[in-house]
Amino acid sequence: MRPAPRHLLGIEPLDAGAITSILDDAERFFAAKPDAHRDVLRGRTVVNAFFEASTRTRCSFEIAAKRLGADVVNVASAASSVTKGETLLDTAKNLEAMGVDVIVLRHPASGAPHFLAPRLTASLVNAGDGAHEHPTQALLDAFTIKKKKGGLAGLVVAICGDILHSRVARSNALLLGKLGAEVRLAGPRTLLPREASALGPTVVVAPRLEDAVTGADVVMMLRIQTERLAGAMISTGRDYARAFGLSPTRLALAKKDAIVLHPGPMNRGVEIDSRVADGPESVILEQVAAGVAVRSAVLAQLVSGTA
Ligand code: NCD
Repeated sequence: MRPAPRHLLGIEPLDAGAITSILDDAERFFAAKPDAHRDVLRGRTVVNAFFEASTRTRCSFEIAAKRLGADVVNVASAASSVTKGETLLDTAKNLEAMGVDVIVLRHPASGAPHFLAPRLTASLVNAGDGAHEHPTQALLDAFTIKKKKGGLAGLVVAICGDILHSRVARSNALLLGKLGAEVRLAGPRTLLPREASALGPTVVVAPRLEDAVTGADVVMMLRIQTERLAGAMISTGRDYARAFGLSPTRLALAKKDAIVLHPGPMNRGVEIDSRVADGPESVILEQVAAGVAVRSAVLAQLVSGTA
């Protein structure tokens, strides 16, 4: 047993052992009945503080915390005193004063959870900070891939779309590299990071979508993060689909048993064709199901203090 950290701020500080321990615990939660672990967080309070839109992440953190017996409170930026000029730190300190044990934070500023964590006694979980990290998404993606493929080492994973602004791409590239998968990144040149190699020694940039997808075991499609685009860096949806959309023809370049992932929200007809999104290779809703188990494992580890 290793002492677990108090916070989950990103994939970057985790080693392969810490990642595997979360995935193993998630496996147990996944197999259990929804009411089998009601005592794990009994008497604890979890706050979902979301300063950006969310459907899957917020709901699955809430479901996970409730299934573990916690009291759950949701704060949404539009309805909070942030709109009256309160700082993020003051908001967090006020939540803490109410006896909160875990704050699950989504924030548009990269590094927001890293700023808060050392200033709080509550545990902090990063549910997406700007274009930086989204660790539980990468963990649930890894869980889904592992379930389908038996493991991650040696797999070829193509991640396609707006890589530059995607915290999902970043966390996934870091995690997959740590667990021995090869990562190919593809997207419009203006939406690719300049230093892809900083994401890990197994991360390469492919010039075209076809190059990334050919022979891949896993194809992960990403939406264009329109809210993070500084200017008009891309063409229309139709032009984008023609160059970077995952069609059945393009998917046929991947391995025969390849699977398709998307963290959601999908923009059908732009980065992904509906025939692919709803096709037999798609594990998109399995990712969503995995999210509850993975977030249960993360919350349980942070609160119990062991991994
Ligand atoms: C992602 C996010 O918010 O980073 N969605 C999610 O959490 N499932 C991806 C996105 O917004 O495109």
